[in-house]
Amino acid sequence: MTEVIDGNAVAEDVRGDLEDGIETLADAGVRPGLATVLMSDDPASETYVSMKQRDCEEVGIEGIHVELDADAPAEDLYDTVADLNADPEVHGILVQMPLPDHVEDREVLRAIDPEKDVDGFHPENVGRLVAGEPRYRPCTPHGIQKLLDATGVETEGKDVTIVGRSNIVGKPLANLFFRKAHDGNATVTVCHSRTTDLEAKTRCADVVVAAAGVPEMIDGSMLTEETVVIDVGINRVDADNEKGYELVGDVDFESAKEKASAITPVPGGVGPMTRAMLLYNTVKAAGRQEGVAVDLP
Ligand code: GUN
Repeated sequence: MTEVIDGNAVAEDVRGDLEDGIETLADAGVRPGLATVLMSDDPASETYVSMKQRDCEEVGIEGIHVELDADAPAEDLYDTVADLNADPEVHGILVQMPLPDHVEDREVLRAIDPEKDVDGFHPENVGRLVAGEPRYRPCTPHGIQKLLDATGVETEGKDVTIVGRSNIVGKPLANLFFRKAHDGNATVTVCHSRTTDLEAKTRCADVVVAAAGVPEMIDGSMLTEETVVIDVGINRVDADNEKGYELVGDVDFESAKEKASAITPVPGGVGPMTRAMLLYNTVKAAGRQEGVAVDLP
């Protein structure tokens, strides 16, 4: 029987594990604060940010939300980031990507105080990750590690194939997977749009992570009975329903489920874990900035 990995349940466990840390901070008079910044009219981005704010409220993190018009000058965004950097009640800052074309993503990420960079995207934090000493693990990769751990899947000595080389998922995940650590120590293959014979690379892997942003590009024929499949894709495709669309992953769930040993669904797999690890990083950030020792699993 193929195991369907329940991301909602594991995310709930992570949130439960944060309670002690939030209480320790409260005893020291600190309420962790997370600022989200949205500069986009994209309905999916709006939904993600509002879910992140709702999560904050549920666990006792102060949520601060700033919205800028998608056609506002880039300067407005830099001013917002500078204000949040200087605000002692804000411990974490997340600027939702993608940004409008007239704003340079990399420059914005560089403007965020690295101590408040709970995405882990600032070049200093990327450098630390590559050096094997992450300050904040990027949320989706960290969430995937937690999901595998909760499913009893070890990566040590295993072959992992990651499909996708983004800065948000593929690159940081590769670094975490081959890191010398109990939840690393894997042999990692990173595939992308120019990879030849993708199927050969997925079929020889113990774990396949699909993170290319291409709807249902991985199907059952590219897997074996032993493969553990992690689907990072959240793609809106047209559908004949009330909303006019449905969400599908980068994996063709039905055929992959027939074959693989375990698989994450979309929605309800990696998505909730990404959000849970953002809360985790915010609690960690608050502890670091306030000088409070916070015990995090
Ligand atoms: N857009 C899609 N995923 C992410 C993420 O993890 N962080 C930010 N800031 N933007 C995103």
